[in-house]
Amino acid sequence: MKFEVQPNGRMVDAETRAAHLAAPGFGRVFTDHMVSAQWTRAEGWHDARLVPYAPLVLDPATAVLHYSQSVFEGLKAYRQPDGGVALFRPGRNAERLAASCRRLALPVLPVEDFVAACELLVRTDADWVPDSEGASLYLRPLLIADEVGLMVRPSNSVRFLLIASPAGSYFTGPLRPISLWLTREYVRAALGGTGAAKCGGNYAASLVAQQEAMDHGCDQVVFVDAIEHRWIDELAGSNIFFVLDDGVLVTPELSGAILPGVTREAVIALARDAGRRVEERRFDVEEWREGALSGRVAEVFACGTAAVITPIGTLKWPGGEATVGDGTPGTTTLALREALIDLQYGRTPDPHGWRRRVL
Ligand code: COI
Repeated sequence: MKFEVQPNGRMVDAETRAAHLAAPGFGRVFTDHMVSAQWTRAEGWHDARLVPYAPLVLDPATAVLHYSQSVFEGLKAYRQPDGGVALFRPGRNAERLAASCRRLALPVLPVEDFVAACELLVRTDADWVPDSEGASLYLRPLLIADEVGLMVRPSNSVRFLLIASPAGSYFTGPLRPISLWLTREYVRAALGGTGAAKCGGNYAASLVAQQEAMDHGCDQVVFVDAIEHRWIDELAGSNIFFVLDDGVLVTPELSGAILPGVTREAVIALARDAGRRVEERRFDVEEWREGALSGRVAEVFACGTAAVITPIGTLKWPGGEATVGDGTPGTTTLALREALIDLQYGRTPDPHGWRRRVL
């Protein structure tokens, strides 16, 4: 794919940009440019461009607005010690996007085009990559069915978009253990459904349970499986790990109903590099509850591109709660978090070849 470049003639001024970078929050402000490409069944991918960031004009009958035929990704660009910029494993996100596209009957964007689009946007808007600790440039690629019409069938026209947003931590304030609400009424995904695809519908389905979590004073909701309602799946926006008292890490297996997280995969590799045993298996909510009481479950954490590695303290459910450890971040959680962050920010060697220098 060849990208035509149309620079933004009205870029955000340096002072305003600096103010945004000083307190980025998450997903609130966006850079000066975006990437766009069009696919049609007749022509395939074409019209690839880097253009000024701008709202879209969509016909109210556009398919995605009705039937949610869309997928997205999330990845970050990190400022390196020498002032350069590196993406973290963009090829893995490209592969997962391709898998999501297949599940949602969308055309696959070739891996090399995905990576080229990310590199082009980051290079163009490099001044938007923060250099403060814990901050980065979050990239949000998405595909939407943009054919106009109300027939329920795979769209004959699809648009790829890539936007970027300076990002701090997803959970506000200094690093602290978050609390989870265990929902058993609502299910995020079932086998055969779209749970392993990164599509907006999964997130839409999580929101009523997320509201319930917030109503009970919790930060996030945690979902269990759709059949027995007892096996831990994941949070609304991240995967989950348990650290047992003998140092073994356990994370729910990729059952087909949970998202195969890129950070999840990196955490498994980093833990194994450090000589830890990692088990990918089903984890019963009772194992969590009893383990919190007995001390068998020593630490719990969430992980994802946005969540990074975030300690989890308390699990609540209707009529009860259980706190793991003393409610402060655990040492294994913090060590893995540091190993991951140091790697992403280029402070440690990169034995797996995960960093992709853009600048
Ligand atoms: C991410 O971690 O990149 C996500 O997509 C999770 C959430 C912010 C939607």
